[in-house]
Amino acid sequence: MRQKRKTDHLNLARLIEDGPAATGFADIHFIPNCLPDLALAEVSTVSYFLGEKFEAPILINAISGGVPESKELNRALAFAACRLGIPMAVGSMTAALEDPSVLQTYTVVREENPHGFIAANVSAGINPELALNAVELLRADALQLHLNAPQEAAMPYGEGDLTFRGFLENIKAVVKTSPVPVIVKEVGFGMAKEEALNLLEAGVTVLDTGGSGGTNFIHIESFRGNSREAYPFYNWGIPSAVTLLEVAEAVKMYTGKRKTAAEIVASGGIRSGLDTAKALALGANLVGVAAPLLRAYYQEGKQGVLNCLHLLQHQLRQAMFMLGVQSPELLQSRPLVILGETGKWLELRGYNLRDLANRKNR
Ligand SMILES: Cc1cc2nc3c(=O)[nH]c(=O)nc-3n(C[C@H](O)[C@H](O)[C@H](O)COP(=O)(O)O)c2cc1C
Repeated sequence: MRQKRKTDHLNLARLIEDGPAATGFADIHFIPNCLPDLALAEVSTVSYFLGEKFEAPILINAISGGVPESKELNRALAFAACRLGIPMAVGSMTAALEDPSVLQTYTVVREENPHGFIAANVSAGINPELALNAVELLRADALQLHLNAPQEAAMPYGEGDLTFRGFLENIKAVVKTSPVPVIVKEVGFGMAKEEALNLLEAGVTVLDTGGSGGTNFIHIESFRGNSREAYPFYNWGIPSAVTLLEVAEAVKMYTGKRKTAAEIVASGGIRSGLDTAKALALGANLVGVAAPLLRAYYQEGKQGVLNCLHLLQHQLRQAMFMLGVQSPELLQSRPLVILGETGKWLELRGYNLRDLANRKNR
């Protein structure tokens, strides 16, 4: 059943369109800088995440593994990660933990990128010992724990894991035993500030927001089940731009309670270098991208993946140039105006939009 589901995901995620919810990034506007005072060639996308240096603030997010076609896909993703000098994650490794014969569909990323930064991926409900196995099998640099309750609820009858009881305690236990930093990620429905605070309290080092507006697993699962029963839920989730601010607020509230501030990956519907620039300006350390890379791979193979990532990096550079910002972290001092539904949503959640619109350049 799992094999069929994974193959369906690869086939459907590239055909089913993003949304229908909007990410909210279109409601977010930089205040342009008509005197940038720098040359495009001086703009650098070099970024730091978990103490490591990367050539661009982009994470190839978890997609696949465990089915034959995922081997070449993972090879192409790892090739691009290596060429660009960026981190990547593999898809959920439960399949390899249960059946060693499929391990190669994951470990291929180490063949292709022996020294790169690679994150293992398992459910946040995993037994902590198995989580350790996943890390060891991949010589992983980080461990992603995914949260996907809405996806499980939308799976065809009998497939979904419908008990999420005890996940926070389990995450705490995994954090305690994990030899590498733990990243907790949503898969496209977002994280609210309240849960983000609980996760930080549990010792999680990185939160990957996984907001709505990009890949929609409720749509994908209901398509698989040939059912429109989940139709009212197609808009479920916290839009990507909103969840990013919710999580950033939680991280800010929590900073000072631990030695180093937690880091943020913004993901869910990041589709351009301009989205990337906005996400970084709103507090992300990296952005995570999944479906566009899958689509690029099926259209043009590994060169397609590379081109897609190069374009994101190039557009990020263009945005930074137009803003007069030489390095990604300086984006966090550029003022941003948030309009429309995104602005309304954030105001109702107590966010002070005027502060953001009038923050001063460093
Ligand atoms: C085909 C496919 C399979 C995925 N499988 C996993 C997975 O195994 N584990 C996980 O944490 N996320 C998985 N994701 C979710 C992505 O990592 C990401 O959180 C989500 O797709 C939102 O990003 P996007 O809008 O850029 O696609 C998958 C995404 C796709 C498209």
